[in-house]
Amino acid sequence: MSRGLFVVFEGIDGCGKSTQARRVARDRDARFVFEPGDTPVGIDLRRWILDAATPMTPATEALLLLADRAHHVNSVIEPALASGHCVVADRFSASTLAYQGYGRGVDLDELRAATDLAIGDCRPDLTILIDLMPSLALEREARDESDRFEIADAGFHDRVRQGYLELAGEDVDGWFVVDGTPSVSEVAAVIDQRLAALPW
Ligand code: TYD
Repeated sequence: MSRGLFVVFEGIDGCGKSTQARRVARDRDARFVFEPGDTPVGIDLRRWILDAATPMTPATEALLLLADRAHHVNSVIEPALASGHCVVADRFSASTLAYQGYGRGVDLDELRAATDLAIGDCRPDLTILIDLMPSLALEREARDESDRFEIADAGFHDRVRQGYLELAGEDVDGWFVVDGTPSVSEVAAVIDQRLAALPW
């Protein structure tokens, strides 16, 4: 049995990636997963990760996210891929590099080494970045302005966006960048065109 495809959607909060990831998973009969918090262990971790009332260092934040990912990979993603199922993820390793690395300033090489420990060889076949200006994303998303990342200042979200673009620029074969400004259906059409080239 051949291994399933692993496609990841990334982008800043409110860029529209969750809508696109769920749609692609449904259309392609793939397993939809998300981070953080997609396992019983992850539900508890997600609560701490997002709780703005619990101050923590950027390193602690990163390690909680990586613990969530390590457990997610081992208990859900890797078994699905190994048994031939395709997996579509709403966020994965690039989120940690963009948010905790570029956004919070955690050393990128150290984050990459910790990511190796968390995910081993479980790497995406394609990462789709839905790129959107933070000001537009803020307008679109109905926020309650309460979680740890929603209360971060505009500069943080700008750094995260630039970080994503830098990561995509470093690996043009592994990433596909789509402009998230047009309508949901227009963005979907661009994504589907790229996905048609994959051996689903
Ligand atoms: P998510 O549930 O995807 O929220 P949204 O749908 O609003 O994008 O992610 C929750 C928050 O966690 C989001 O603000 C991004 C942040 N996050 C990180 O900072 N690093 C990570 O590695 C991941 C997976 C998420």
